[in-house]
Parts: sequence; C-alpha cells; structure tokens
Amino acid sequence: VSERTLVLIKPDAVQRGLVGEIISRYERKGLAIVAMDQRTIDASQSDAHYAEHVDKPFYPGLREFITSGPLVALVLEGDQAIDVVRQMNGATDSRTAAPGTIRGDLSLSKSENLVHASDSPDSAKRELAIWFPHLG
Ligand code: CMP
Repeated sequence: VSERTLVLIKPDAVQRGLVGEIISRYERKGLAIVAMDQRTIDASQSDAHYAEHVDKPFYPGLREFITSGPLVALVLEGDQAIDVVRQMNGATDSRTAAPGTIRGDLSLSKSENLVHASDSPDSAKRELAIWFPHLG
C-alpha cells in the first residue's frame, strides 16, 4: 500500500553537507519526493512537531538543536514508505544503529542523529499536516 511519510534532514546533516547523500539514498530505494523545503524553525514549531516529547528531560536540548539552523523537510511516498524509511534511518541512537542505515553509517550521536521520520500512520498524518498543510 502506498503511503506518505514526513522526513526531516536535521540541522547536523545540513551543516555537515550530507543532504545530497541522504536524499540520494531515499531516491535510489525508489521512494518518490512529493515535496521538499529547506526551513529554519522556531521554538513553537519545534513544540508542535515534538508534542509527545516536550515534557521529557532531553527536550530542551532537542529544541535547541532542531532550531539551531536550516533543516530540510521532505514528503516521501512509496509502498510501505513509513516503515521503509524508518528501517533506512536506523535506530534512534546512532551509536547502536546498524551499519547500512543512515544513522549507522553517518552519525555517532544519540541526539544529533541526522534524520527524523514519522513512526506510524497516525504520526505521519499529524506531521504532514504540520509541515505541509497545503498537500491535504
Ligand atoms: P527523532 O526521531 O527526531 O525523535 C525524537 C528525537 O529526540 C530523536 O530523534 C532524537 O534526536 C532525540 N532524542 C531521543 N531520545 C533522546 C535522548 N535520550 N537524549 C537526547 N535526545 C534524544
């Protein structure tokens, strides 16, 4: 079943010049880029996106990081795209993410982990409405 998922290529990836490498992986997999936009978000946008994390102890640092510079927001589409992209990204903690994944190959940090992707159909729906409301 074809799905859409929201991906963020985070400020660490932009700063390190890894945007092309990361997008290339998704393209080579066969996912379609439905929308793509480079933005710098503010604290309220971070709070909306990370609503489920705002009360967690790591959230102040996460908000500082995610608002620290430009990120690239993408809508990717394809068969089982939500799960496929999460598999490609690898485990949240890049230190233990499997080799072959984006985090496993390109990052060594638990918090600055290069990418975000929607983790379920419900979160994809919620996040797509926040980031790309015009897509419907
Ligand atoms: P992401 O997939 O964007 O979802 C929540 C983010 O919070 C996660 O990637 C990490 O960047 C960050 N994160 C999750 N857990 C921790 C943690 N224990 N310490 C620091 N950052 C975390």
